Amino acid sequence: MSPAPTPAATPGTPAQPPNSAAQAAAAGTAPAARPLQHIVAITSGKGGVGKTFASANLAAALARAGQRVLVLDADLGLANLDVVLNLYPKITLHDVFTGRHTLEDAILPAPGNFSVLLAGSGMVEYSRMTGEVREKLQSLVAEVAPRFDHVLLDTGAGISDVVLYTVSLAGEVLVVVTPEPTSLTDAYATIKVLAHTQGRRRVHLLVNQVRRPGEGRGVRNQLQQVVDRYVNPALDVPVRLELIGEVPVDPAVREAVQRRQLLLESMPGTAAALALVNAAAKMPG
Ligand SMILES: Nc1ncnc2c1ncn2[C@@H]1O[C@H](COP(=O)(O)OP(=O)(O)OP(=O)(O)O)[C@@H](O)[C@H]1O
Ligand SMILES: [Mg+2]
Repeated sequence: MSPAPTPAATPGTPAQPPNSAAQAAAAGTAPAARPLQHIVAITSGKGGVGKTFASANLAAALARAGQRVLVLDADLGLANLDVVLNLYPKITLHDVFTGRHTLEDAILPAPGNFSVLLAGSGMVEYSRMTGEVREKLQSLVAEVAPRFDHVLLDTGAGISDVVLYTVSLAGEVLVVVTPEPTSLTDAYATIKVLAHTQGRRRVHLLVNQVRRPGEGRGVRNQLQQVVDRYVNPALDVPVRLELIGEVPVDPAVREAVQRRQLLLESMPGTAAALALVNAAAKMPG
């Protein structure tokens, strides 16, 4: 098991774990009753690789297996989980942060039998993480986490301060990557930064948009090789990449997104849907 990650107050500045009693007390919340391993940040180096699509459909697969699941739209400034799920939320995380509404009001049921906490889109105030937003987001995650078997944080892409902070709130990380060279390079950069700034030693991978069976394993091995060569020599405990699954390029995905439906609900027999059900069974947490 990898050591508990260290959430970064700013990238490169390790802080206390968000479930430490001291920090929870300072934030005015009860310490998390469960370990953080069931909070999984779904992130990527390059944008548009399928994080939101995967978050929603993995959540549906886990819910179908009887798990209580919450997906939090952690792409605070450019949220679009609501679009994928065809929801028109009146209450968002922003309303909870400003105290206009309670957390209870903001947790909404989504198609697929899981819960969501949605964020607003186009809010420039979330393009950077102020100390206040950090604290509010952290205590919100600590408050909801004990109520669910899985909490998925659908983050933005890249290694910005905002993305790294939201990832730091999770016990486990799932990096979504496609076999494209640009996506691979950016995934490597993300993994390296997470190893150095958050002490991550285990990173889960979902390889999306593969063109042939087995390509996901190849992508994982290729990334592991680069990590072994350039990241691991400087570390006491090496970073290990764990493939949870590969999802083929499937026209049904675009169609489902276009229709604003969950693939698992509208086209459950498609190759991509079946691949996501398999991947969900290997989700950490
Ligand atoms: N397996 C797949 N097969 C075909 N198309 C796919 C597949 N996965 C994702 N896509 C396409 O990629 C688009 C982008 O996916 P999504 O919005 O989930 O990416 P994202 O990583 O969340 O993007 P962002 O970085 O902007 O948050 C989808 O709308 C869909 O059209
Ligand atoms: Mg997204």
